Amino acid sequence: MLSGLQEHLNRTLPNTSFKEQRAYRAVYHKLSNLIIVEIENHKLVAKKAPVVGWFKKLYPETSDFLLTLPQVQGLNSAWQWYTNGITIPGLRNKIHPYYGTYFPTRFEHLELFDNWLKRYSGPKKSAIDVGVGSGILALQMVKHGFQKVFATDTNPNAIIGLTEMMGDTKLSRKIELDFGSLFGKWKNKTELIVFNPPWLAETRGLNNLDAAIYYNDTLF
Ligand SMILES: C[S@@+](CC[C@H](N)C(=O)[O-])C[C@H]1O[C@@H](n2cnc3c(N)ncnc32)[C@H](O)[C@@H]1O
Repeated sequence: MLSGLQEHLNRTLPNTSFKEQRAYRAVYHKLSNLIIVEIENHKLVAKKAPVVGWFKKLYPETSDFLLTLPQVQGLNSAWQWYTNGITIPGLRNKIHPYYGTYFPTRFEHLELFDNWLKRYSGPKKSAIDVGVGSGILALQMVKHGFQKVFATDTNPNAIIGLTEMMGDTKLSRKIELDFGSLFGKWKNKTELIVFNPPWLAETRGLNNLDAAIYYNDTLF
């Protein structure tokens, strides 16, 4: 269906200049959102459709429903990231980003932080990680001997995902989470505060994933 759609657009719309490409993408977006996919018994009703575990996890009480194709594509890629995991240089275990949670696709800053932590010789009683996301900075600090990391995020999925990931393991006693803005409920003084913040100025209304990238004028 998607290649049919693409073919139709290629036949009917120019797609060379910047303006034309934007218009092309807008029509593609509009039309692909008109394709509705059926979910029955938490599974996609389509031949050779991939398994997307989020249907059951996110909608445990509703087994039959409809989603648009772009939504299904988004859920499918997120499921692949979550189940296959992502290898982060310097961390022994893969991270498994929960649905709708930010994860890095470039690692230079993490290598930089790892090197900084290697050389840091101050006390390591506790640290705060503002905007913990998939937990990478917190995990790096634990790896380098921080006894406790107090972390926050305004995205509930980040908190739910890390709570699930840590379960009842030793890690869950090292990383404490709070669903809140900036320092959330943490009032304690710590040796270190880290925040890998959203880095672009906001231009429109944000959803949770956008809020990992775009900041509003009050954040800093
Ligand atoms: C660029 S991501 C970094 C995530 C993670 N620390 C990392 O380095 O991969 C920014 C994170 O900050 C969170 N965030 C944005 N505004 C926040 C706020 N006011 N308070 C707490 N967290 C916030 C986002 O939800 C997102 O998880």
